[in-house]
Amino acid sequence: MIEPLVIALSKGRILLKSLSLIKKAGIIPIDSINNNRKLLFNTKKKYLNLIFLRAIDVPTYVKLGAADMGIVGKDVLLENGSKGFYEPIDFKISKCRLMTAGLIGFNIKKRKRKVATKFIKIAKNYYASKGINAEIIKLYGAMELAPLMNIADEIIDIVDTGNTLKRNGMEPKNLITNISTRLIVNKSAMIRKYKYINPLIELLISII
Ligand code: ATP
Ligand code: PRP
Repeated sequence: MIEPLVIALSKGRILLKSLSLIKKAGIIPIDSINNNRKLLFNTKKKYLNLIFLRAIDVPTYVKLGAADMGIVGKDVLLENGSKGFYEPIDFKISKCRLMTAGLIGFNIKKRKRKVATKFIKIAKNYYASKGINAEIIKLYGAMELAPLMNIADEIIDIVDTGNTLKRNGMEPKNLITNISTRLIVNKSAMIRKYKYINPLIELLISII
């Protein structure tokens, strides 16, 4: 009897792209996901279930082994730690950049800059690596407003088209890292369920 495999998907922006990717591997939810408050779905592959989580919770479920695998943005992994699982695939979807950004033409001359972001750990590591003195202000969204409203000198946020920055009188400054969507796998599941997980990883790699 096969123990079921559980894949945790990130709700929100990357969900549809993740679903269409795994669909190519025959992983298709049996029930419609549209207008459905369900969070656990059986799939056409009998031994494989999907759970839908907030992106930030995907690493936790995989670390704890409640999910064997997860599909999540690299930004989430960098911010929440990447111990407790392997990261065997870069799906190269939902690509974007983590950048510092500030008001157009504004150069920071202060010795200690104020930085608004939801990426606290990434920000601390980044400024420490540059030897820059920074006070980090935790926000949960709409980071682009912070310099406009004068609570920060710059922000660290995701940039894709750059439209959000532009529409708020800001410009990207320095690239911190490129971001894309990754597959993560629980370390002990990788050993215990190798027979099922390894072919699935190979199938997913062949698809991308
Ligand atoms: P939550 O709503 O749970 O707080 P969130 O707002 O962080 O989550 P989304 O905005 O749905 O989540 O983004 C999820 C992932 O999509 C991010 O972790 C990142 O990898 C990717 N992403 C975010 N913004 C963009 C963007 N503008 N372009 C491309 N990919 C993006
Ligand atoms: C993300 C990110 C930026 C925007 C960047 O926000 O935080 O605000 O996308 O994309 P762009 O460069 O193409 O404009 P999201 O829409 O996820 O909203 P959020 O502020 O709730 O994170």
